[in-house]
Amino acid sequence: KKTNLKRPNLITDFKSVEGNVCVIDELKNVFEVAIASAYPYLEKPPVAITLSGNNPKFGDYQCNSAMGISQLLKAKNIKSNPREVANNILNKAPTSPLIERIEVAGAGFLNIFVNKAFTEHVLNSILRFGVKPPPVKKERVIVDFSSPNIAKEMHVGHLRSTIIGDSICRVLEFLDYDVLRINHLGDWGTQFGMLIAHLQDKFPNFKTHSPPISDLQAFYKESKKRFDEDEEFKKRAYACVVKLQSHESDYITAWKLICEVSRQEFQKIYDRLDIKIIDRGESFYHDRMHVVVKLLKEKGFLEEDEGRLIMWADEKREGIPLTVVKSDGGYTYDTSDMAAIRQRVEEEKGDRFIYVTDAGQQTHFVLIDACARRAGILKDDQKVEFVGFGVVLGEDKKKFKTRSGDTIKLIDLLDEGLKRSLDKLVEKGRDKVLTPEELKQAQEAVAYGCIKYADLSHNRVNDYVFSFDKMLDDKGNTAVYLLYALTRIRSIARTAQVSLEQLLAEAKKTGLKFNHESEWKLAKVLLRFPEIILKVSKDLYLHSLCEYLYEISSAFTEFYDKCYCVEKDKEGKIVNIIYERLMLCEVTARIMEKALEILGIKTVSKM
Ligand code: ARG
Repeated sequence: KKTNLKRPNLITDFKSVEGNVCVIDELKNVFEVAIASAYPYLEKPPVAITLSGNNPKFGDYQCNSAMGISQLLKAKNIKSNPREVANNILNKAPTSPLIERIEVAGAGFLNIFVNKAFTEHVLNSILRFGVKPPPVKKERVIVDFSSPNIAKEMHVGHLRSTIIGDSICRVLEFLDYDVLRINHLGDWGTQFGMLIAHLQDKFPNFKTHSPPISDLQAFYKESKKRFDEDEEFKKRAYACVVKLQSHESDYITAWKLICEVSRQEFQKIYDRLDIKIIDRGESFYHDRMHVVVKLLKEKGFLEEDEGRLIMWADEKREGIPLTVVKSDGGYTYDTSDMAAIRQRVEEEKGDRFIYVTDAGQQTHFVLIDACARRAGILKDDQKVEFVGFGVVLGEDKKKFKTRSGDTIKLIDLLDEGLKRSLDKLVEKGRDKVLTPEELKQAQEAVAYGCIKYADLSHNRVNDYVFSFDKMLDDKGNTAVYLLYALTRIRSIARTAQVSLEQLLAEAKKTGLKFNHESEWKLAKVLLRFPEIILKVSKDLYLHSLCEYLYEISSAFTEFYDKCYCVEKDKEGKIVNIIYERLMLCEVTARIMEKALEILGIKTVSKM
């Protein structure tokens, strides 16, 4: 019995491929065809391709399907062993220009060796046409990130969400997805009641004169104190919320004013970190909340529970339900997220919905996902992805605080980063060789780059320790190390006085050639860029891109130690330029720059 498996189109001539080819995906296709033709009667046999370990003996990639297939055969009472299966697959493997050779090894591993001429061609394409994204099926992706709360402190948790969310957007945008960056600001909560009531007392002419509430934090604290101590004030605060939410104009004016002050503060952080995001706070969904509540009521999903209206994820009524309407008739965080997801499906026509918040909110989003599906708002092919992250700790492994025990203001944190990064550059005597402008650029690139990289290079699900000393270290996997590595690579062609035009002209004549073992090793690392990008775009774990960057720079160091690009005589005069190696430097630099750009890290040509 033959399965009517759709055969993938295989690459038959590498001249037709470009720099964006994803090698591991093509190998999967090759082995899918091989396995299907060796075992046509097996339904969905496993096609497992992984990167081989560090030992060159095991090839570059491995197909580990033979063991699984041998199990499937055993279940069908067909006698076999993994080695025999591996040999059968090998015999059926179609020839591919990507593959130099395949060897059966050990208990039935298929070791795959990548073809050199193919790799030379791919890197040559990158040299000629730039770093291009691998092709993907177009989707509209809504990324909800950053999302601080008005009048409250934007804290380190929001900083993580901002950095991770921005980088996720950058990966998806590089792949040419249609990305909508949403700042789901907390701008509609009950805190506005007390803020407005306090504003009315303190600045009665707020409608004509902007009150000096530049320190919203202090303003928030004062009003909170009154709220907790003064019954009368508390009552008035509640009344204010009702008036605000029924859109009374004076209240809207006061509310807008408060939001504006907060927004300006947030914007300072976004500008420094080069973050683009669209403000669309909870208030945006106010009318849509009425609509979604009505819809859920009509469909019979809402149940009464001590005066509240709740919705369960499913019939089993396990865990916790959503609180859709409070006993006083008000809406909640849950209500706004139900309205938001519906808006994102129906109006924004999203295919994929990503939420970036601390891990503590996972249950909330799992519940929103389940309820939205249950209510028919989300369809099967629409994905909700929760991107959770751990908390930020101080060097004492306790909650990140200032020395006096206060929460850390983000602006202060960024300022300290700037100061420390300048100190570091001065310590290295860079202020003596760089112009003031170059020094400033380096200072900012290092400060913001190191804060972002420290966050992104750790597996986001874990808590992470914020340490300027560690992130500014120029050894190890840090932004500083990578930025230095990149400027060093960039300076090689500069010292050889070879322009990009010259290099491209040489490339046209000879192309890239990898003769030395270290060149070949570096080239194979560079070849994996599309594969890493696709992986990150799916699992949204950015630390693999950071690890990859570090791997590139290690492979480059080894190459540069062993292979000189420029030969000089005793007087230091250039006597020989090895263009092919300069080409490899150029491709390395371009891929590193692209990866850093995706991580939101600015690069500098000198530092
Ligand atoms: N404002 C929330 C907070 O500070 C985060 C909002 C996340 N997005 C959402 N759609 N609920 O924790």
